[in-house]
Amino acid sequence: MKSSRISGFYKLSIEERLKIVKEFSELSDEEAEFLLKGHLDMDLADRMIENVVGMTELPIGIATNFKINGKDYLIPMAIEEPSVVAAASHAAKLAREGGGFFTSSTEPIMISQIQVVGLRNPHFAKMQVLEHKEELMRIANEQDPVLIKVGGGCRDIKARVIDSNMGPMLVIHLHVDVRDAMGANAVNSMAEALAPYIEDITGGKVYLRILSNLAIYRLARARAVWKKDVIGEDTVKGILYAYEFARVDPFRAATHNKGIMNGIDAVLIATSNDWRAVEAGAHAFAAMDGWYTSLTHYEEDEEGNLVGSIELPMAVGIIGGATSTHPKAKIARKILGIKTAKEFGEILAAVGLAQNFAALRALATEGIQRGHMSLHARNIAVMAGAKGEEIDRVAELLVKEKKVRVDRAKEILEELRERK
Ligand code: MEV
Repeated sequence: MKSSRISGFYKLSIEERLKIVKEFSELSDEEAEFLLKGHLDMDLADRMIENVVGMTELPIGIATNFKINGKDYLIPMAIEEPSVVAAASHAAKLAREGGGFFTSSTEPIMISQIQVVGLRNPHFAKMQVLEHKEELMRIANEQDPVLIKVGGGCRDIKARVIDSNMGPMLVIHLHVDVRDAMGANAVNSMAEALAPYIEDITGGKVYLRILSNLAIYRLARARAVWKKDVIGEDTVKGILYAYEFARVDPFRAATHNKGIMNGIDAVLIATSNDWRAVEAGAHAFAAMDGWYTSLTHYEEDEEGNLVGSIELPMAVGIIGGATSTHPKAKIARKILGIKTAKEFGEILAAVGLAQNFAALRALATEGIQRGHMSLHARNIAVMAGAKGEEIDRVAELLVKEKKVRVDRAKEILEELRERK
């Protein structure tokens, strides 16, 4: 069986790393070459969004060591922030000693909302809508024969009356199984198609017809054990304190959850998924109990090991939109080796948990700056003009001297070159 446990991956050259990824994920020569040198075609970009004038770029790094449900994965991450890829890989390495990550998820049910206003008797109207549930579901399903063919479709219709400063509103929720798509288009089309029927049934006026990013019926979950003997008793305690801090304090929870999303977003961007949708869902879900709190949980088991878990909405797809058209997104998906959106969502949950563990471990022990500094120092070395092997030499000295500045990097570089 293939293993993603690769020690010293970071020390290899880009070409050597790519060779390993190519073999692991069975990329073709063309795919590997495209990953290294290719870029999105301008015509494709011009069809992707409006008013295109250029392209932006982010590095794609590979997080190693992930074992999820007994299977090894390499995780492509696109991000501008140093330390994220290294931190995820390290957390995954430490989790392997406890068997890696174990995941599960719900069915891929998205919610679409229809807002009905101007109702004299909103509760009465609610009953009228629910009486027509079967017929409304049939009409919704007529909008997307392809989705029905692959086993998806509208599964339920719910309605509730909410109060507002503009009077009561009837809010209808379509619950739609979107299978392997992110599902926005499918559920929005259904809501738009049902709107005139809802107006007929209720006599009210429909305004908004749009999905909710608070996808509480499309949840992904992950758990892992970090052994006390591997991470140390003090670290277990420190992480439990860090978790409690985030659980009870929204100021800390925001940063804690940002760390989780560092990992999740990076994979979403690499695969051209709508990361804003997942962000919105995650943060709204974190406030579901009436206050904003941590998306992860940490506990200590009877042996003193740290057990971590995460559950969050995961509206992601592997078909449709840019996930299917962006050539690098397709390669990123191939690197992951995923076959379903369910598997993808669960990987994302595991990455989020790993990322959070890594941040808490660093924060509760040596602090976050040490890891940040060595990568930052490499950037400073490059800014100072260091090339090839010089980069690591200059960075090392900058960190050692605790002077991570371009002026000092230039001096070190000059000294190194003179000595040659
Ligand atoms: C930085 O991008 C993320 C962290 O701030 C997360 C955290 O504090 O848990 C390190």
